[in-house]
Amino acid sequence: MKIVFYLLLTVSLSFGTVLDDYLANLSKEVKSKNSNFEGFDAKRGEVIFTSTHKGKKGEMISCVSCHNNDLTQSGKNSFTGKVIEPLSPKANPARLTEAKTIDKWLRRNFNDVYNREGTAQEQGDVLTYILSKD
Ligand code: HEC
Repeated sequence: MKIVFYLLLTVSLSFGTVLDDYLANLSKEVKSKNSNFEGFDAKRGEVIFTSTHKGKKGEMISCVSCHNNDLTQSGKNSFTGKVIEPLSPKANPARLTEAKTIDKWLRRNFNDVYNREGTAQEQGDVLTYILSKD
């Protein structure tokens, strides 16, 4: 019986999603530098996502410029004109399922808009905002 119990426990523990792990790692990173950290915040994430800045190429740009204000709808790459599938995992289940992809694009896209990589807190806040949208 005991063995079955441990097996079940292992199976259920391995069900944590990629995104849960990703956010937990970001959270650990923030806490290691800021003991007052109280968790990621969709409101701060919204400001990060919707505010406009002078981007990498000198133009005024925001995350919305490419991803649309309505995250359940497709966006359009403001540099190339290519269609970008919806960013909300509720509308597009393929979203935020691979740590490598999330990491690569957050890094690249923060650079596009903010001319620097986002901090762990900014990345966590913006992901929390994306998840809060349906
Ligand atoms: C110049 C256009 C552009 C801007 C601005 C932009 N993105 Fe993106 N983003 C893309 C493209 C292109 C992809 C990759 C193609 C795809 O996934 O459809 C992508 C992918 C992503 C992904 C990966 C999602 C996944 O599939 O796992 C995230 C998260 C993301 N962007 C967040 C942001 C955030 C946050 C900002 C603002 C800081 C931002 N993006 C600004 C073009 C942009």
